[in-house]
Amino acid sequence: MALMKRLAYCINSKTKSIDFGDPFAEEITYKVVVKTGNTKAAGTDADVKIQLIGEDSSTKPTKIDNFFRDDFERGNSDKFIIKMKNIGTPLLCKLLIKDKGLSPDWYVEYVKVIMKSKEYFFPFYEWVTDGATTAEGTAYLPQDDSLEVKRKFREEYLRKQRTTYRWRAEPEKEDLTYGLNGHLQAEQHRDLPRNSQWSAERDAEFHNCRATGLKNLLLNRFVGIFRNFDSLEDVHKLLLIPTMKNREINHDCWHNWRSDLEFARQQINGCRPTGVQRVFKSLPKYYSITTADLEKCLPSGVTYQNALLDGRIFMVDNSILEGIPCGDHPILKTKNYTCAPLLVLYCNNEGFLEPLAIQLFSNKEENNPVFTPKDPPNAWLLAKMFFNSANGQIQQVTEHLLRCHLAPEPFVVAMIRNLSIVHPLRKLLATHTPFHLALNTIGREMGEGVPGANTGKTTSLGI
Ligand SMILES: [Fe+2]
Repeated sequence: MALMKRLAYCINSKTKSIDFGDPFAEEITYKVVVKTGNTKAAGTDADVKIQLIGEDSSTKPTKIDNFFRDDFERGNSDKFIIKMKNIGTPLLCKLLIKDKGLSPDWYVEYVKVIMKSKEYFFPFYEWVTDGATTAEGTAYLPQDDSLEVKRKFREEYLRKQRTTYRWRAEPEKEDLTYGLNGHLQAEQHRDLPRNSQWSAERDAEFHNCRATGLKNLLLNRFVGIFRNFDSLEDVHKLLLIPTMKNREINHDCWHNWRSDLEFARQQINGCRPTGVQRVFKSLPKYYSITTADLEKCLPSGVTYQNALLDGRIFMVDNSILEGIPCGDHPILKTKNYTCAPLLVLYCNNEGFLEPLAIQLFSNKEENNPVFTPKDPPNAWLLAKMFFNSANGQIQQVTEHLLRCHLAPEPFVVAMIRNLSIVHPLRKLLATHTPFHLALNTIGREMGEGVPGANTGKTTSLGI
């Protein structure tokens, strides 16, 4: 009788008629959907088995395979109808891999299990080359691990993560993170755990950009042998050389770069809007910009005090650069230098910012004049250019290198080592940190941020 029922079931499953109320006492029908990622080499030809684990029991590892169909190809959603033991609510999903063949890597996005009309979602989002286990996608805190099987899963998961992701606390002197708290223990990108490496597409994009940059550099040098640059329009033409043909040039910005409104706009829409602060009481005492300097550039009838009370005075304080040692010029081998400027801005009646004054250094020595829009045009233009150069370097070193790359790395590694994939915080943070470890490791590998390395050749600070 049991055999007859099984035969009837097989016929049903072939005709895609799914009966979730299967009468077998010990076995029920599961519909399983496996989504393979859409990245290069994500598919696999391996034999795959699935095992579901419930509170008290688990199914046998069961092969999932559609007859005469190439399953688990890149980007595919493969559906399987299988019969396995009724284990109640499935809590964990295990994928077992055998006979990996020519494509051993397999990136699984998720597995959906539908049983008795209920759907259970198992988010993998990882390379499962050697098999993997994940928990049902509902987030929960460790103190809510009331079930032994979930508690054990979390403990085992974290134990593995702590073995795989090690911290190197004492960087070498020439290391990018020297003086900081260290970094992940991986000398090169290929030493990283597979799930923290770049995707093949991202890798190709990075190397293409780099190759294009180098080609342009060589082409620029070649063109420069035969041509002098008499104006910025010549530089514009150079930007339109073949390898740069897809590069869009913002013509408003290009044509208006000398204007004060465009310069002020760049402070808000440019590389470092976080540097703009409203002035509430007074300007920093280490600069010597006076009320008289500012009032000669304010609209007639507006006093500095009134503008301050109206909340219309803003500043960008770059005094952090004062006294910072600079790097060497990559070609001339002379010492570079930078200023440490303060910029003061006014918000006009139309809601646009206008620059009022720039002082290049934060000291009160005589040879430290205050520049304003009332100065000769080229002097004022140069002051704005010096300011933008200094401001861009602060952005590169602090906002970008330090705050976006180096400082978050301990948090990313701590998250991977200490928060299991079912932890609500991990689910929130994980989406903000993809490829973080890959980028930082590649940066260290290439010596970025270290004096003398590639990026250091483009900034006065040499970092
Ligand atoms: Fe970056």
